[in-house]
Amino acid sequence: MSSQGVAIAPPEGKLGVLIPGMGAVATTFVAGTEAVRRGLAQPIGSLTQMGTVRLGKRTDGRSPAIKEFVPLARLDDLVFASWDLFPDNAYEAALKAGVLERPHLDAVKDFLQELRPMPAVFEHKFVKNLSGKNVKKGKTKMDLAAQLMDDITTFKKNNGLNRMVMVWCASTETFLRPSAVHQSLVAFEKGLKSNSPEVAPSMIYAYAALKSGVPFANGAPNLTVDVPALHNLALKQELPVCGKDFKTGQTLMKTILAPGLKARLLGLRGWFSTSILGNRNGEVLDDPGSFRTKEESKLSALEYILQPDLYPDLYRDLYHKVRINYYPPRGDNKEGWDNLDIFGWLGYPMQIKIDFLCRDSILAAPIVLDLVLFLDLAQRTPELARRGIQEWLSFYFKSPMTAPGLYPEHDLFIQLMKLKNTLRHLRGEELITHLGLEYYD
Ligand SMILES: NC(=O)c1ccc[n+]([C@@H]2O[C@H](COP(=O)([O-])OP(=O)(O)OC[C@H]3O[C@@H](n4cnc5c(N)ncnc54)[C@H](O)[C@@H]3O)[C@@H](O)[C@H]2O)c1
Repeated sequence: MSSQGVAIAPPEGKLGVLIPGMGAVATTFVAGTEAVRRGLAQPIGSLTQMGTVRLGKRTDGRSPAIKEFVPLARLDDLVFASWDLFPDNAYEAALKAGVLERPHLDAVKDFLQELRPMPAVFEHKFVKNLSGKNVKKGKTKMDLAAQLMDDITTFKKNNGLNRMVMVWCASTETFLRPSAVHQSLVAFEKGLKSNSPEVAPSMIYAYAALKSGVPFANGAPNLTVDVPALHNLALKQELPVCGKDFKTGQTLMKTILAPGLKARLLGLRGWFSTSILGNRNGEVLDDPGSFRTKEESKLSALEYILQPDLYPDLYRDLYHKVRINYYPPRGDNKEGWDNLDIFGWLGYPMQIKIDFLCRDSILAAPIVLDLVLFLDLAQRTPELARRGIQEWLSFYFKSPMTAPGLYPEHDLFIQLMKLKNTLRHLRGEELITHLGLEYYD
């Protein structure tokens, strides 16, 4: 049984994709999207491109592709722009990032060379291990925000764009606690004008995006848009926002495995995760301030999934440790080791070892693509846009943003159900509860 569904404006015209940070993730996403557009490769890992959604009963045989079920922008309509403190064009930046191999990059070289990053809003104190010259100058942080807004307006005009979205793919900033300047829009704007040291560059981008009517997604664990001042701005502007920190690598594994162990009521005494990686992201995370931001994001997932307050005998004494080691020879080809000390019937101990030879940016690129398309869907759907935070996109994040006072849902399978049920709801299809008694009537 289906009803009308909710109003969604059609994805007419071109969609601008604004990307602060032209590093490993961003170049792998842009080069890959262009390779897919040219029919040279497949968008593996992307729910919007390869996923389906079951509708109605299991016996109905209705499982359309997601991109046919909801009106998403077409890949051909995406136009890219970026900012970075290094002036390299996307081809040069991709070569340095060392994720995609030369034949893949050379096949889209002409396209990548055209993408040159605009000067960044950057403050060394927030990312201690980087220094670059392609940086904006301004007397106040408000002046810098105004320059970003000019960039956004010019990009829109020069490319005849209909709509835009912004996805933060720049480095992890140093750890920052929410403080008075983040509590209201008035205080925040005052902070921009008085150069408050607690206003991070990523917040200036998010502010510029929201003021310009552009939805914002945060791929890093920084606070960025996850503070009341910017939540309120998103609500006021009726713009979707989401974050934080793309769910890739070891955290992806954690959110796949932990729900399974909990489902079978197996106990956990310890979970030790360590990894070696040698890309620029690894170099940035070598700074203790940036690592602290990442660590907070990575640690919280297990706690929420396992619910030690509900299952004290199984998870109360869990020792969870995360280590990231910068090791240049590996480049983007990270290796992550996990050791799980679990226990079963009568408390008998067992161990699980995982050695994941993963490629972080290969896992992150399809997430960026899906976020671009789903955020754009949300901005055309008043029922979603007016709510600001898009919890249904938790699926993509290590530390999902939620309404104040609500704990985040970390279990990957619940997150996927939430995402697909949101799509069903938008189209007026019945939500799937998996009750299934009717099959036996
Ligand atoms: N690689 C992954 O799979 C993954 C997974 C989850 C989250 N992330 C996050 O995504 C972000 C990007 O990761 P990456 O591997 O591409 O890193 P990267 O170091 O290769 O790229 C980041 C880029 O951002 C630029 N940058 C830093 N501050 C900037 C600013 N203020 N304005 C504009 N540009 C700025 C840097 O110069 C660099 O080119 C990081 O925050 C990382 O923590 C990455």
